[in-house]
Amino acid sequence: MYEDLKGKTVLVTGSGKRSGIGYAVARKFAENGSNVIISDLGDQQDKDNPIPTGQSGEMNEIVEEFKSECGVDAMAAAFDVTDNKSIQTAVSSIMKRFSRLDVLCNNAGATFGVPNAIHTYDEAAWMKTIDVNLHSVFKVSRAVLPMMMTKGGAIVNVASRAGKVPPLFNGAYAVAKAGVIMMTKVMARELAGNGIRVNAVCPGQIMTDLESWRFDLEAQFLGTTAEQQKEEMCKTIALNRLGSPAEVAKLVAYLASDQASYLTGQAVNVTGGQLMEL
Ligand code: NAI
Repeated sequence: MYEDLKGKTVLVTGSGKRSGIGYAVARKFAENGSNVIISDLGDQQDKDNPIPTGQSGEMNEIVEEFKSECGVDAMAAAFDVTDNKSIQTAVSSIMKRFSRLDVLCNNAGATFGVPNAIHTYDEAAWMKTIDVNLHSVFKVSRAVLPMMMTKGGAIVNVASRAGKVPPLFNGAYAVAKAGVIMMTKVMARELAGNGIRVNAVCPGQIMTDLESWRFDLEAQFLGTTAEQQKEEMCKTIALNRLGSPAEVAKLVAYLASDQASYLTGQAVNVTGGQLMEL
């Protein structure tokens, strides 16, 4: 438990699906007594996204779950992290309901147009991948910062191991996540004077819809099975297993808490030892 997170207001983007990292992060904050805003696409569908997105029904269920099981306040805010207008509408309703925001976790992410090498990558899919993963961090952070700058707070961006080590045929995602890491450092320097610490987490292989989809895709491509792909992947991880969303959530909560009071501008790996850096 992080006592200082109690009563804080926390916005987690892409948290409207129980299978995802965003939900686990939101749950962790609720368990620590924070009031949580569950945000996701809701009724807006993204026809280009090959993975199911967070729907309004599930978002509302999560809100009720946190209220009843954790005794905190919670609200659902459906918005597209790439759309300034819908971000602004959501920020106004958050302001009206809570009058403050202490923690932002930029978690929403997706990949489009893969697998593809640079020379065959569809341009619209490339741009959209950068938009959803990187420009979203700029847009959402810019919109909420006026709520955070007077009192201070913390931002935790969900980057990826892919932002440090290039995956094959998923170039736009890798470039976007590298951008998220640099964006983290830029914001950390610019916002330190406002009492806002900004860090990133770089998950490795975490068992979510995104990861299952990836194993299915690889299996199709290589004529193997998803289970075989998973086994092969585990061989590259020192702990020899995939991670869980809850294991990423623990790190996010720590980085947002006062326990990490001297940490800012960092991109912390949570990869089970798949990535080890000096
Ligand atoms: P996921 O696909 O289960 O969750 C992504 C969430 O983002 C979904 O709830 C989705 O509805 C939401 N989202 C997508 N586009 C959106 C938009 N335009 N506006 C608002 N919300 C949108 O995937 P997962 O694995 O939970 O991913 C969460 C984050 O973690 C992503 O940023 C991903 O890139 C990152 N990550 C995941 C890894 C993994 O192994 N699962 C590894 C490294 C990073």
